[in-house]
Amino acid sequence: MPDLLEVKDLSVSFYRPEGELQALKNVSFSLHAGEILAIMGETGCGKSVLCKSILKLLPDMAKIKTGQIYFKGEEISAYSEKQMQRLRGSAFSMVFQNPMTALNPCMNVGMQISEAVRQRQPELSRRGRQERVEELIELVGLDHPGERRRQYPCHFSGGMAQRCVIAIALAAKPEILFADEPTTSLDVTVQAQILELLLKLREKTGMTVVFVTHNPGVAARVADRVALMREGKLYRIAEVEEFFEESIHNQNCI
Ligand SMILES: Nc1ncnc2c1ncn2[C@@H]1O[C@H](COP(=O)(O)OP(=O)(O)O)[C@@H](O)[C@H]1O
Ligand SMILES: [Mg+2]
Repeated sequence: MPDLLEVKDLSVSFYRPEGELQALKNVSFSLHAGEILAIMGETGCGKSVLCKSILKLLPDMAKIKTGQIYFKGEEISAYSEKQMQRLRGSAFSMVFQNPMTALNPCMNVGMQISEAVRQRQPELSRRGRQERVEELIELVGLDHPGERRRQYPCHFSGGMAQRCVIAIALAAKPEILFADEPTTSLDVTVQAQILELLLKLREKTGMTVVFVTHNPGVAARVADRVALMREGKLYRIAEVEEFFEESIHNQNCI
């Protein structure tokens, strides 16, 4: 069986008026089904660009210069925007750093989750969709789903909002969840709760997770493997124990 996702020799540049910026340089790695891969590295080293390249969410000024991306053995780097949209609504889902900007302030959260459910399961009746929304709200650990779904994002704390964003992402029943610094904007206790939630969801659903963080403690807590990026290159990738064992011997690696 091929790896779930394979990135081969990926180079991406931004063509800005002031010149070319090489954001990714010959990055290769593969993702095993069911694992949590943490991507670490300093700000600006290319973690978000790597995720966005896989999801094809880069702005027009960014171009893939070399390389291919395969999902279940099929090359998706050549997919059209329409094909990618289908993949983003089913196989891939994403959760970004700031939950408040990911939610629409003018729509109650139930409707936002419901819209994602409708896209993935258009065959569901209104009633079925509502049941699925409440199931998702419960799955991400929010109480009183019947009342919660009628509330607006402004009624929610950062941690609760991130749970809603995760519920929207899960509505797609993704095979791979891309979580780009999903806990960075939250306080430490809430961060820990969201990490626990992701671990629990992985156990329940078996989904594969790409988890971006610049926090080694967070990577050590959640990841099966850790990839370290530096200046657009994938500098090192290893099983989590091996990664941190070597880092202790070689402190300047993180
Ligand atoms: N939309 C953009 N336009 C121009 N340059 C960008 C854009 N997004 C990212 N970059 C550049 O690409 C590099 C990698 O950025 P990014 O992947 O966002 O870093 P991080 O590891 O912090 O997520 C940085 O040098 C950044 O300035
Ligand atoms: Mg980033």
